[in-house]
Amino acid sequence: MEIPAKGLLPAELMLGIAHIDAQHEAIFYRIENLKASCLDTGELPDHVADDLLAYLAEHFASEETCAGEAGVSFKEHHVKHEATLAALRHWVDRVQSGRADIFSLLRYLEIWFERHILEEDQPFARKVLAARPPAAD
Ligand SMILES: [Fe+2]
Ligand SMILES: [Fe+2]
Repeated sequence: MEIPAKGLLPAELMLGIAHIDAQHEAIFYRIENLKASCLDTGELPDHVADDLLAYLAEHFASEETCAGEAGVSFKEHHVKHEATLAALRHWVDRVQSGRADIFSLLRYLEIWFERHILEEDQPFARKVLAARPPAAD
């Protein structure tokens, strides 16, 4: 099944910071691809899990850089990112050792991602946008 790379990020989940929105869309794209491949195989290949975790870590670092450039505090947000990476690594271990199924991980991932954007990333983006000139992005 062909997954479109664009148009996956719902308008209500946008931040208004172009490069972060693009990364969120890329995460949705990875989740949709993971869903499609799991429906076919029910498995989580190592390289897919590694790619997802690495991309999330890269994205979290990018948000942190963005906050630093705008002079916005990122301490609590950082702690949530770290907790998410630890939880996802734990889920991946459970799936790969047969103690959990991939669909539980997918449900966790989707719910976490949308909630994190609404509860952490959007408030963070409002502070960043308020702290910098309108034409900066
Ligand atoms: Fe994010
Ligand atoms: Fe975040």
